[in-house]
Amino acid sequence: MTIATKIEEAGFKPASRIASIGVSKILQIGARAAAMKRDGLPVIILGAGEPDFDTPDNVKQAAKAAIDRGETKYTALDGTPELKKAIAAKFLRENGVDYALDEVTVGTGAKQILFNAFMASINPGDEVIIPTPYWTSYSDIVEICGGVPVLIPCDATAGFRLKAEQLEQAITEKTRWVLLNSPSNPSGAAYGEADYRPLLDVLLRYPHVWLMVDDMYEHIVYDGFSFVTPVALEPKLKARALTINGVSKAYAMTGWRIGYAGGPKALIKAMAVIQSQATSCPSSVSQAASVEALNGPQDFLKERQESFKRRRDLVVAALNAIPGIDCRTPEGAFYTFAGCGGLIGRKTPAGRTIETDADFTDYLLEVAHVAVVPGSAFGLSPYFRISYATSEAELKEALKHIAEACAKLA
Ligand SMILES: Cc1ncc(COP(=O)(O)O)c(C=O)c1O
Repeated sequence: MTIATKIEEAGFKPASRIASIGVSKILQIGARAAAMKRDGLPVIILGAGEPDFDTPDNVKQAAKAAIDRGETKYTALDGTPELKKAIAAKFLRENGVDYALDEVTVGTGAKQILFNAFMASINPGDEVIIPTPYWTSYSDIVEICGGVPVLIPCDATAGFRLKAEQLEQAITEKTRWVLLNSPSNPSGAAYGEADYRPLLDVLLRYPHVWLMVDDMYEHIVYDGFSFVTPVALEPKLKARALTINGVSKAYAMTGWRIGYAGGPKALIKAMAVIQSQATSCPSSVSQAASVEALNGPQDFLKERQESFKRRRDLVVAALNAIPGIDCRTPEGAFYTFAGCGGLIGRKTPAGRTIETDADFTDYLLEVAHVAVVPGSAFGLSPYFRISYATSEAELKEALKHIAEACAKLA
């Protein structure tokens, strides 16, 4: 059921721009799991897209100091000069990309940055190429903005990565953007230099196509994976690329709502027009906190990375030990995206046939009391996503229940 039909039932006629947007399966599962928990069932939720760590203390102190200094008023429209400077310094220090302050924008989360960028650039019918599996918001935002998401399946055999031939075939004269996310939510797959190069070579041949990259999980990579952002690899694309990042995942600051991007001045200016009529500016206190996050000590990132890696290894090994489940080892983020094709067609003890990955995740919720998200929610089946941003003890318990539930399938 789409949001539109649901709202219309309540006697309100919604705008056509939301007509095709579905109620997120992630939210549906979360709501169901929470209701089961309220009923006293011991449900473990492995659906959350946020680190279980706390925001670092120095960041919290910086926010408190900002409040005490009276920094509680509207700020400059698309970011304080202090935060823009910290962001430009971060891009140079960590990515080797030099953005001037008027090439930097700050929004209320990377989600608003995406929204501003598409609102500011897409006309009805413009196409946005999105490799699947993809973070659900990408296609929904494109549709709300009147664009057409062009979804390209990239399964586990392709390492969940877009190939140059697929990209070239998908480009039409209506293509406005290609949107890449590395490391990826939901697959955890990341593009190294060798994966990006052929894609960037294709883009060089199509000057009307712009590149949007979402580097949100940059700091959560494993096994010595060398993170790289496309504009650093191909400076010729800088004039038509938007590099998105944020403090939510690396600094465990999801609730502070600060995301940012670097891009060409004209696009950044157009994005500010959208922001000016949406939020006026990001939160002043959160911006002060983000200055400290980016300029302050970074050593804790490594410790957190190691903790995430232990959990990744635990989850991948436990999943691969279950007959019928096949889990690729992700390079980054805090998600596994395991194939459950080997369980499709099996029967539950209650006699129901598992026909889809959503049937499988429903079964896991009912029988194993573990909430995970089906691949269909991210545009690729039959898979399911586990977010392992939770304690090792809870992960072990959840994986044990998943294995027991799978063993009951006939
Ligand atoms: C790939 C990706 N990009 C962007 C975001 C949005 O982050 P923010 O909290 O900055 O809006 C998320 C959040 O889940 C994400 O997974």
